[in-house]
Amino acid sequence: MKKLTVAIDGPAGAGKSSVAKLVASQLHYLYIDTGAMYRAVAWLTGEKGIAADDEAAIRQLTDTMQIRMQAAAQGCRIWINEREVTEEIRSPEVSARVSAIAALPAVRYKLVQLQRQLAQPGGVILDGRDIGTVVLPHADIKFFLTASVQARARRRFLEMQEKGMPTTLAQVEENIASRDYQDSHREHSPLRQAPDAVFIDNSEWNLQETAGYIQRYIEEKQ
Ligand code: C5P
Repeated sequence: MKKLTVAIDGPAGAGKSSVAKLVASQLHYLYIDTGAMYRAVAWLTGEKGIAADDEAAIRQLTDTMQIRMQAAAQGCRIWINEREVTEEIRSPEVSARVSAIAALPAVRYKLVQLQRQLAQPGGVILDGRDIGTVVLPHADIKFFLTASVQARARRRFLEMQEKGMPTTLAQVEENIASRDYQDSHREHSPLRQAPDAVFIDNSEWNLQETAGYIQRYIEEKQ
């Protein structure tokens, strides 16, 4: 059986990471959460008090930073400069600033190199916004996963409630809509569907149904 390279792109809250995690564990593939990398950089800029539009300072930071990821049952654990930030990067503060940081070419250049290195051995599922278009244009299989803003906000809200994170459905919906806009209108590597990606709208599907569809699709190509 061939170990494939799989790209899953789509907007915030479409369930990409939950689906990728589940399918990767079923197929014994490595799951790489690229959003976590952008979140870690956004967290670090916040820690250092660097403004999201201070490109020079952020470029300097990305030149020296070290990011390390490790697959775990709950997803990916992530360290930046040897500090584990797996939990911190999910905060509303990081969610609010991450899209501005992710729009900077210096940040993207550095993280894309890292993502390509991690994907190199195959047997990987990467999820993000530009995996099928920029990071791995020759990925064996590409999916574009989306759902209505309401469905995505509801899922993300329930997820955050379960983790005891204080927020409201309206705040989550606003953050998702704002990130959708920023991610799809930025100059570098905007969120868009690769022409050869399989389009899935999972507004009416649950996690198992979406994961089952994707898993079967991969198994048929292996
Ligand atoms: O996947 P997640 O929602 O955690 O991603 C957080 C943010 O990181 C996105 O809203 C987007 O701005 C950025 N991102 C990106 N390219 C990727 C993955 C994430 O620009 N490949």
